[in-house]
Amino acid sequence: MRFIICTCLATFLFGCNGWVWSTLNNDSSLVTGDTGYSVDPSALNYAYVNANIFQPHCIHCHSNAAGNSGGVNLETYANVIANLNNIRDQVNTNQMPKGGPPLTDTEKTILNDWISLGAPQ
Ligand code: HEC
Repeated sequence: MRFIICTCLATFLFGCNGWVWSTLNNDSSLVTGDTGYSVDPSALNYAYVNANIFQPHCIHCHSNAAGNSGGVNLETYANVIANLNNIRDQVNTNQMPKGGPPLTDTEKTILNDWISLGAPQ
């Protein structure tokens, strides 16, 4: 029930973006790594994106421990926000993750939807 309310709210607030929520929630392929995840609007925050996108796909290059490749550190919310447009461009044009397989369509959708929500913490 809460999801239905949220979906209506998201549809109302974000127009045609609302359909994405229901698509994501009905997508049985929404699996990252070894763990299955389901997305609902209340879960789409920095913690979720960090755990599912940045940590598995970016941090092994963009961390202090890894020498912050390209001068970019993606270990904190503030740093991600500061690089947000660049991150979106790099990921959607498959330039990042560098040398690795591109993010899946579902992972890109998660990132793009989170950004379109205003990248909430
Ligand atoms: C294997 C190492 C590696 C991984 C993994 C990686 N990057 Fe990078 N990234 C780099 C390097 C090296 C650069 C410097 C530019 C270049 O060499 O293309 C860079 C540059 C960037 C830049 C700055 C680009 C610019 O031209 O200003 C952004 C933003 C970025 N990466 C985001 C990400 C994101 C988001 C991920 C995960 C989805 C990611 N990177 C994964 C190595 C990596």
